[in-house]
Amino acid sequence: MKKILITGGAGFIGSHVVRRFVNQYPDYHIYNLDALTYAGNLENLRDVEDAANYTFVKGDITDAVFLDELFANTDFYGVVHLAAESHVDRSISDPLAFVVTNVIGTVNLLNAARKAWKDDLANRGATNRLFYHVSTDEVYGELHDPNEFFLETTSYDPRSPYSASKASSDHFVRAYHNTYKMPVVISNCSNNYGPNHFPEKLIPLMIHNIMQKKPLPVYGKGENVRDWLYVEDHARAIDTIFHRGKVGETYNIGGHNEWKNLDLVLLLCKIMDDKLGREPGTAESLITYVTDRAGHDLRYAIDATRLKTELGWEPSLQFEEGLEKTVDWYLENQAWLDNVTSGNYKKYYEEMY
Ligand code: NAD
Ligand code: DAU
Repeated sequence: MKKILITGGAGFIGSHVVRRFVNQYPDYHIYNLDALTYAGNLENLRDVEDAANYTFVKGDITDAVFLDELFANTDFYGVVHLAAESHVDRSISDPLAFVVTNVIGTVNLLNAARKAWKDDLANRGATNRLFYHVSTDEVYGELHDPNEFFLETTSYDPRSPYSASKASSDHFVRAYHNTYKMPVVISNCSNNYGPNHFPEKLIPLMIHNIMQKKPLPVYGKGENVRDWLYVEDHARAIDTIFHRGKVGETYNIGGHNEWKNLDLVLLLCKIMDDKLGREPGTAESLITYVTDRAGHDLRYAIDATRLKTELGWEPSLQFEEGLEKTVDWYLENQAWLDNVTSGNYKKYYEEMY
């Protein structure tokens, strides 16, 4: 049985990746390593927690000794590394936390793999391992020309503490490939949305506030553009790249689905008024323009041609369909939402808005 370590598997995207790997690959044993920060939630994985090929390991990637022991005791065939601090606004108020988890945590993980895999790494041709780093399109900076897209060859130009930490971790992953022959692959994905998304991020925050008839805080004029991808499509892309991607390479993942923030919020308002049986315009009247995010990147847009032509991956869902599925999930899982918005979330929300 191949042992696969997935880090950050209790988070939003990680939980969808864990579920997919546990269900699709009964011949793999999936180890989900997660520190269960505010963003990690084992409720996200209730449906797979009893599977014979699944083990949860509570642990912190900033703890190098713990990682070395874990790798010494378990012969991992592959690592899919998602654990990170992931929210841009939090990186603006506490950049160091992002350096510690995203940069040092990633280097700790690379070091643990390097030590455990040293015999394989000594002979590049013989290695049968893979270290997969899940990264973001934000490393490429922002776009202004509407005809431009981020390619795998686009130069890095991170502009927030979050994206700077992810760019740095990408660089370390590539440096370990070059220097120590670590077999790596990196993917850089656009904005995800879907079930289990923590309500500090735009879409779940708006859904939560519409449910509660609270103001909908749109940063600046709502003109910033993001490219949205349904989270299960991202998990499928990760599966594809993990199994068929070329070692040492980078793959961009995106939805080819650009939306101005304001247009997205208006669409969400329409869908939710309809689903909640409210008068049209009820949710829209809650829109409130608030101070813009510092250094707010204008537009992200991914060109995922390489992934399509070389590995045959394409997004499966139209945005409206994905958004409806997402809204339905939140309406059916109010206990999940109540749970994650109680406690520390209230303090975070008061300080932010
Ligand atoms: P998330 O914040 O929902 O989840 C992060 C997970 O990592 C949580 O379960 C948390 O407990 C865990 N974690 C944090 N610090 C840890 C530590 N020190 N040790 C162990 N576990 C720790 O994040 P997400 O949105 O699911 O993103 C997952 C990954 O995908 C990140 O690396 C992120 O940069 C990348 N990414 C996210 C998006 C997006 O739209 N959300 C898009 C592209 C790439
Ligand atoms: O592009 C990929 C990235 O997408 C990931 O790497 C990050 O982990 C993920 O958080 C996401 O970053 P963004 O900053 O784009 O996502 P967020 O949901 O925070 O914001 C989306 C847009 O909505 C952005 O332009 C800011 C705006 N916004 C956000 C919030 C939370 C608002 O207008 N109001 C809000 O309350």
